[in-house]
Amino acid sequence: MPTPCDVVVLLSGTGSNLQALIDSTQGGDNPARIRAVISNRADAYGLQRARDAGIEARVLDHKGFEGREAFDTALMALIDEFSPKLVVLAGFMRILSADFVRHYQGRLLNIHPSLLPKYKGLHTHQRALDAGDREHGCSVHFVTEELDGGPLVVQAVVAVELADTAQSLAQRVHGQEHQIYPLAMRWFAEGRLSLGEQGAILDGQPLPASGHLIRP
Ligand code: GRF
Repeated sequence: MPTPCDVVVLLSGTGSNLQALIDSTQGGDNPARIRAVISNRADAYGLQRARDAGIEARVLDHKGFEGREAFDTALMALIDEFSPKLVVLAGFMRILSADFVRHYQGRLLNIHPSLLPKYKGLHTHQRALDAGDREHGCSVHFVTEELDGGPLVVQAVVAVELADTAQSLAQRVHGQEHQIYPLAMRWFAEGRLSLGEQGAILDGQPLPASGHLIRP
């Protein structure tokens, strides 16, 4: 068994990605070990998922802080209680300060529901439909100071159907998110994935700008 890789997951909502990450660690040969789940919202269902899996669940409500810096400083202190090698953002609906991002440089991953660099920000499924895109998907990337702009690790492509609504498309993209996030976490935990000067590195080779691309 390789050395365990302690992970802290941050979320604000349902946590279906968290569930996929938890499930992926149940097999026994995955070195990723989710030590804690932290939410800025006490009512996030993801916290229940963590408790159900016997994982420590903590709440740090941003409303109790004056400004982003103060909240992020407290958040860093809470995360660091668990000494994680990796911090995973799984639907954490907060913009992070530059200090926070720098503190976890090279060990902070995010998942975004579009084929980045397309559709940074919100309402990605509707925007892909409005643009008439034939393909949509999701991306895992290292987090840098540029919002949704860090080096890509892996992307999954989803074909857009003529009858798709934002909801039906979101559902299929979500299905792919649940495949690629556990994959990226595992690569990192196994020491195969890192952030280099020029971008993401997998097994000693620089990944292409799109990251590892998975097509249907
Ligand atoms: C996902 O769509 C993810 O791409 C985005 O936030 C959403 C979280 O969904 N960053 P869930 O809470 O994991 O179901």
